[in-house]
Amino acid sequence: MSTITIKTPEEIKKLREGGKILAKVLRELEGAARPGVKTHELEDLAQKLIKEAGAKPSFLGYGEPPYSAALCTSVNEEVVHCIPSNREIKEGDLIGLDCGIWYKELCTDMAVTIPIGKVSAEVKKLIKVTRKALDIAINQIKPGNTIGDLGSAVQKYVEKNNFSVIRKLVGHGVGYQVHEPPRIPNFGEPGEGEILKEGMVLAIEPMVNVGSHDIEVRDNKWDIVTKDKSLSAHFEYTVVVTKNGCEILTK
Ligand code: MF3
Ligand code: CO
Repeated sequence: MSTITIKTPEEIKKLREGGKILAKVLRELEGAARPGVKTHELEDLAQKLIKEAGAKPSFLGYGEPPYSAALCTSVNEEVVHCIPSNREIKEGDLIGLDCGIWYKELCTDMAVTIPIGKVSAEVKKLIKVTRKALDIAINQIKPGNTIGDLGSAVQKYVEKNNFSVIRKLVGHGVGYQVHEPPRIPNFGEPGEGEILKEGMVLAIEPMVNVGSHDIEVRDNKWDIVTKDKSLSAHFEYTVVVTKNGCEILTK
């Protein structure tokens, strides 16, 4: 059994500062993600921006085998955790940018998915639905509600839009470590799972596929792609549970 940590008001203040830095880094990366750019160029920029802000990348060296970058760049059928490479982003693509930092010894986690230039109606809808799914999850977060309340609301909304939620990957607690308990699925039943309490810090991250929810891991053990090669999108915020709801820390 692992317990869910509760952060102190001082820690939450630091997480808020870190979250603000991370949101700014991602905003700049969004601006740099244009047709013709290679994903490793976004990685270089991420490293530079994180350093300039006095923070440290939290993904670099994380896990086994150690993740080799500060940023995850997941294009089209790539879901999450894709290591920046020579892949060039093209007009019509969508790209997920996922980043995490350490700031004052605490870590925050955030992701966005954006269109590259002009995109199809399907890409637009996928991004819109996934972004809205994040809002729906966040609206369920308050003391007394459960992890299942949140997952169930996300799943219902996504499936109503004829997309699927990934089952094998979940959101998570965050702050002292990149991944902390609890697991936060984007599916479930109302009333199930852990009860939310004030001071919990959570990374909420809906991952939505156009086709089947099934995924595959590439040989590098990190890159995750949809099994049917359908498009996938991902948004993530770090939030803290407050007295009456929650506060987004990455903004
Ligand atoms: N935001 C990602 C997640 O929650 C971070 C993964 S760590 C990395 O799964 F090392 F894969 F980048
Ligand atoms: Co995360």
